[in-house]
Amino acid sequence: MAIRPILHYPDKRLRDPGRPVEVFDDELQTLIDDMAETMYAAPGVGLAATQLGVPLRLFIVDVAVDEDAASDLRVFINPDLVELIGTTSFSEGCLSFPGAREDINRAERVRVKALDRHGQPFEMLADGLMAIAVQHENDHLDGKLMIDRLSILRRRLLHRAMIKHGGGD
Ligand code: NI
Repeated sequence: MAIRPILHYPDKRLRDPGRPVEVFDDELQTLIDDMAETMYAAPGVGLAATQLGVPLRLFIVDVAVDEDAASDLRVFINPDLVELIGTTSFSEGCLSFPGAREDINRAERVRVKALDRHGQPFEMLADGLMAIAVQHENDHLDGKLMIDRLSILRRRLLHRAMIKHGGGD
């Protein structure tokens, strides 16, 4: 396992959409293990492969990171958000926006279908932090970032803060 560098906004590679995972080989398992190590080291609640410059439809979430509980790693491959229920607002962070917290509107619950790390399909009705994380990470797979969900004013402020922070290349 290895910690890999996380791309920071405004790195253009964060805009590359992921393509579906088709091969569940050792290379994929190594990528997932590296993603987990990278996420826990940060630390963060979720990480998408696209944040490591790997354009695949794959993300991981461990909401226990936020609760200081025993780890509970969930792997989502080729996810499909099949149902969005209700609305909520949550102060989100992102490992590609170091130090930033922004209130973002999302669905309160989400039904997601995905494959696990071995290619087995599963379905989950996520709520609470898991629902937020699934939607946030799924955005990454489409090259969409939390800054895109802000008002024009907040977007400008965050952009400026990130440039000053020295994000990107
Ligand atoms: Ni993020």
